[in-house]
Amino acid sequence: MVNMAAEMDDVIHLSIGQPDFPMPEHVLEAHVQALRDGKTGYTLDAGLPQMLEAVAEYYGARYGRELSPENVLITTGATEAMYLAIAATAAPGRQFLVPDPAFPLYAPLIRMNGAEVRSIPTRAEHGHQLDPQEVIDQIGMRTFGIILNSPSNPTGTVYPRETVEAIVQEAAYRGVYVFSDEVYDHLLLDEMAYPSVLRCTSDLDHVMAVSSLSKTFSMAGLRIGWLISSQGAIKKLRRFHIFTTTVANTPAQWAGAAALRGEQGCVEAMLEAYRARRDRIVELVSQTPHLTSYRPQGAFYIFPSLPPNTDGTSVATRLLKETGVCLVPGDAFGESCPNALRISYAASMDDIERAFERIIPWMARQEL
Ligand SMILES: Cc1ncc(COP(=O)(O)O)c(C=O)c1O
Repeated sequence: MVNMAAEMDDVIHLSIGQPDFPMPEHVLEAHVQALRDGKTGYTLDAGLPQMLEAVAEYYGARYGRELSPENVLITTGATEAMYLAIAATAAPGRQFLVPDPAFPLYAPLIRMNGAEVRSIPTRAEHGHQLDPQEVIDQIGMRTFGIILNSPSNPTGTVYPRETVEAIVQEAAYRGVYVFSDEVYDHLLLDEMAYPSVLRCTSDLDHVMAVSSLSKTFSMAGLRIGWLISSQGAIKKLRRFHIFTTTVANTPAQWAGAAALRGEQGCVEAMLEAYRARRDRIVELVSQTPHLTSYRPQGAFYIFPSLPPNTDGTSVATRLLKETGVCLVPGDAFGESCPNALRISYAASMDDIERAFERIIPWMARQEL
């Protein structure tokens, strides 16, 4: 879709999965200062000590639990963190439970390493919520891990604490790992304390929580993320990390420490903008013929459905060709929602309004 869009004029993208805000000024300053100060060599393999401490203190305080720098590994974005977690554990004979739709990183990585994916479909009628009992019922002899991603890409769904707690506790009891992609852990659009897996378990033996600076501080290109787990797991993952990327980008880790230790008003300001956009986009989607939706509570995506058996890819392709609005079809995110479209509101309100001025009349002309 994006390749096709690149050859067209006047395209409005509601397809992009990265924030559209500038990186906060004080974080930018710290990054530039690190470069000027010659902080351009390798760090220790687990990460820059100041960044490891910043992550441990920040999340320890946020989730009201003890975390030490030895519980943390700094990575090249959340992507490397998920890569390490899965590559180090997935193997033939092991099965991973993965919600569907999901960010298209987990299932290919699991399969690439010889393990098996068992999908757990979620449905638009339930706001794509995961039923914890359904997950628990799927845990079998070969189940090794469960992937969670809340707030979710592509659905924007936030799992309530009861869901996360029920899954994490049952998984620990059954000796199953929970790999939690929490890259949108700050992008909560309704008042709530974020239900991280790190709040839901007293020991970290069966959880790996992953996040990054990409979304929260609008600095996806600086590629800094982290993984939080037990000290034993971090020790093992450090070997994979050394042989994968050696260390994360050093000046960007200095920027990361400044981001986590600095004032957080910049995050709140971005959140306010996402909230206003979410509210408006929910209204606009409800006015769009053929789309059925729900109210997402996090990230910057909504994932409405077209009528059953509609080919979302064909609709998205025609929509792009005929109106110049680029969305992502549901089959990019799994097998359960070929009739869905992912709409990203990491775009200005002006672009959102202009896009729906094209989408609504176009949809009204379709017979689906
Ligand atoms: C759910 C999810 N996980 C991970 C990533 C990648 O994050 P990072 O830039 O930190 O590698 C993304 C990016 O879109 C995402 O949506």
